[in-house]
Amino acid sequence: MREVVAAQTSISDIDGGAGRLWYVGYDIADLARHATFEEVVYLLHNLELPTRDQLSELDTFLVNERVLHPFLARMMPTLAQNTSPMSMLRTSVSASSAFDPDGWDESPEAEYRKAMRLIAETPTMIAVFDRLRTGREVVPPHPELSAAANFLWMLHEREPDPDDAAVLDTTFVLYADHTMNASTFTARVIASTLSDMFSAITGAIGALKGPLHGGANEEAQKMAEEVGKSENAEAYVRDRLARKEKIFGFGHAVYKTMDPRAAVLKDLCRELGERVGQPKWFEIFSAIEETTLEQKGLYPNVDLYAAGVYHMLGIPTDLMTPIFALARMTGWTAHVREQYAHNRIIRPGSEYIGPRDRTYVPIDER
Ligand SMILES: CC(C)(COP(=O)(O)OP(=O)(O)OC[C@H]1O[C@@H](n2cnc3c(N)ncnc32)[C@H](O)[C@@H]1OP(=O)(O)O)[C@@H](O)C(=O)NCCC(=O)NCCS
Repeated sequence: MREVVAAQTSISDIDGGAGRLWYVGYDIADLARHATFEEVVYLLHNLELPTRDQLSELDTFLVNERVLHPFLARMMPTLAQNTSPMSMLRTSVSASSAFDPDGWDESPEAEYRKAMRLIAETPTMIAVFDRLRTGREVVPPHPELSAAANFLWMLHEREPDPDDAAVLDTTFVLYADHTMNASTFTARVIASTLSDMFSAITGAIGALKGPLHGGANEEAQKMAEEVGKSENAEAYVRDRLARKEKIFGFGHAVYKTMDPRAAVLKDLCRELGERVGQPKWFEIFSAIEETTLEQKGLYPNVDLYAAGVYHMLGIPTDLMTPIFALARMTGWTAHVREQYAHNRIIRPGSEYIGPRDRTYVPIDER
C-alpha cells in the first residue's frame, strides 16, 4: 500500500523526489549541523525550537528520568540472558506501563511526561542490557552528560571524546522522526483506538525490528564485514543482485534519490574514519554505493553509513537497531500525542480478491 494519506501531521515532511526532509519546517541538514538531540526532542513535541530556559527545564526532566525503575532493573538480568536487544526493548517498554508515575492519567500533560520518560529511559535500558549480557557491572547514568554522551558513558564506562558524542548526537537527530514509516504508522494505528502510549510504542518497536525497516543498519554492517575490503565490493554487489538478494542500506519507499540523512551520514562516516584511523569502513561502503547505483540505480538510505559510524564508535552491531529505536522514540511519542489530540480511529479498507457467491457444501460432501 503506497501514497495513501493516513493522517495529517505537523511533525515532519518528506519530498521523496527532491530528497528533502523537514522536521516542523526545518531542513534536516540544517538541524543535523546545528541542533542537539534534546533540542529536536523539544521541537518534535512542541513544534517550536526551545528557548534556553525551556531546554534547560527539559534537560533536567530527562536527566532525572534516566535511572531504571527497580522493577525493570530486576527484570533486566533475565532479559539479558534470554532475548535479543530489540525483544528486550519491546518487553521493557511494555513493562514500563506498570510503574509509570502518571499511570493511566490520559491528560495531555501526563502523556507528555510519559513520552519524555520513555525518551529518557530507552538509552539506559539498552546500555544496562549490554553490560549485563557481557558480564560487566552496570554503569549508572551520568547526570552531567547529554543523552548521546551519557549513552556512550553507560556503554563503555568512560567519558566519551566530545567529538564522538557529537557524532552520535547527530545520528540521534537524523533518526528522530520520518513521517508515516511502518513503525510510526503502527504506533498511530494503536493510539487511534485510544489504547495507551506504552501499547502504541511497544507495537512500533515490533514493526521497527524487521530487516526491511530498522534492522537494515545491522545488516549493512554485516555486509561490510563480509565484503572485508573495498576491492571486493563490486563482485559482492553483482553477485548478490544476480541472486536477487537485497543490498541492505539501499532503496527507499519514498526517496527516489539520495536520502538526505544518508548524505550527512556519509560525511560523518568519512570524517570519523579519518579521525580514528579506520578509513576502511567508508571505503567499503562507498564502493558498495558505487556499484549498487551503477547496477540497480539504487541510492543509499539512512542505514548504510550509520552502520559504519556506529561500528567506529564501538557500538556492537546488534545494538544498532535499538539505537535507531531510542532516537525514533521521539518521533513515535510525538505522533502518538498528535494522534490523541486529533483522533479518529484509523481503519483502512481492503481490496477483496477472493472468490464470491459460493454455496456452502456440507462437510461429508467436500
Ligand atoms: C526500503 C525498501 C523496503 C523499499 O522497498 P520498495 O519500496 O518495494 O522498493 P522499490 O519499489 O523502489 O523497488 C524497486 C526495485 O528495486 C529492488 N530493490 C529495492 N531495494 C533494493 C535493495 N536494497 N537491494 C536490491 N534490490 C532492491 C526491488 O526489489 C524492486 O525490484 P523489481 O522491480 O525487480 O521487483 C527496499 O528498498 C529494501 O528492502 N531495502 C533494503 C532494506 C533497507 O535498507 N531498509 C531500510 C529502509 S530506511
